[in-house]
Amino acid sequence: MRIGVLTGGGDCPGLNPAIRAVVRRGLQHGFEVLGVRNGWAGLLDDGEVIPLDLQFVSGILHIGGTKLGTSRTNPAKSEDMMAQVQRNLERHDIEALVAIGGDDTLGVAYRLHQKGIPVVGIPKTMDNDVMGTDYCIGFDTAVSIVVEALDRLHTTAESHHRVLVVEVMGRDSGWVAVMGGLAGGADYILIPEECRSFDEVCASLERRRQRGKAFSIIVVAEGVVMSEIADKEAVCERDAFGHVRLDRRCVGEKIAEAIGDRTTMETRHVVLGHLQRGGSPTVFDRVLATRFGVRAADMVQAGHFGMMVAIQGNRIVEIPLETAASGTKTVDPDLIRLAQVFY
Ligand code: F6P
Repeated sequence: MRIGVLTGGGDCPGLNPAIRAVVRRGLQHGFEVLGVRNGWAGLLDDGEVIPLDLQFVSGILHIGGTKLGTSRTNPAKSEDMMAQVQRNLERHDIEALVAIGGDDTLGVAYRLHQKGIPVVGIPKTMDNDVMGTDYCIGFDTAVSIVVEALDRLHTTAESHHRVLVVEVMGRDSGWVAVMGGLAGGADYILIPEECRSFDEVCASLERRRQRGKAFSIIVVAEGVVMSEIADKEAVCERDAFGHVRLDRRCVGEKIAEAIGDRTTMETRHVVLGHLQRGGSPTVFDRVLATRFGVRAADMVQAGHFGMMVAIQGNRIVEIPLETAASGTKTVDPDLIRLAQVFY
């Protein structure tokens, strides 16, 4: 059997271990494995597909990013592009496809499945917001980077008696902010799932000051919406694929400024940005990606198409791609309540 594998959407640590696992297990099943370059873009126009062998995946387990390259190209936006994808799959005799990606990539995979193409999905995104799986590849590493940053920022915030606002990624959900903030001892966490006002934030900082804490750390997810800063966001720049450039909203900077204006506290802001998506994957992400990749190859062998590999509890399971494509997994309210205990 000839199978293809691609990585789509934003990169994150853990993609290479997943590719390695698909190839290693695929070769054991006797598959010929092809790599599609740069996500769905590699199946448009003339396509860009390369053979993957043991040599290609040797020594990549610990390396961040994706050796296949990635893009946010989304062919589901036009029937013509979907037809090109199908044509290229036929042209390269790809009998089954393993798509590693977040909701956009998995949404395309689901559309292909509906058209009768044999597809298996693997969830990855540092945002951790794919439905049906407790964890996505890349999340654990991103959170570890946030926690290391918070540990460092604590000492400088305390020394200078400042409020430090730390902006982390999180487009539609605040998983990175909540888990990073919990583990890094954030004094307040602002996420898209919850509407908070500056009055509440400032009152909490004031309570801390009265307890003798003249410094605070606030973690904010880039996708947060606060009515007080909404008017300044009238113009939202988009990337080439139509996604709002959340980094251009500068919410961390605006929140730091607003807190400074409303209190006598000195504020600074830090944007962690793409640091959260770079470098080596953690142990958890390496093992998760390996478990996902091996299971995905086994699913192809067993003919379990239209499904995505997922982790629930500590068990690897198979769920319909339809579930993954059905929306965004928002932060568990229990975790939000847990974080609030420390405000
Ligand atoms: O989709 C994951 C993500 O990390 C989002 O949280 C963030 O908004 C986006 O990628 C930024 O990606 P890029 O700058 O690479 O387009």
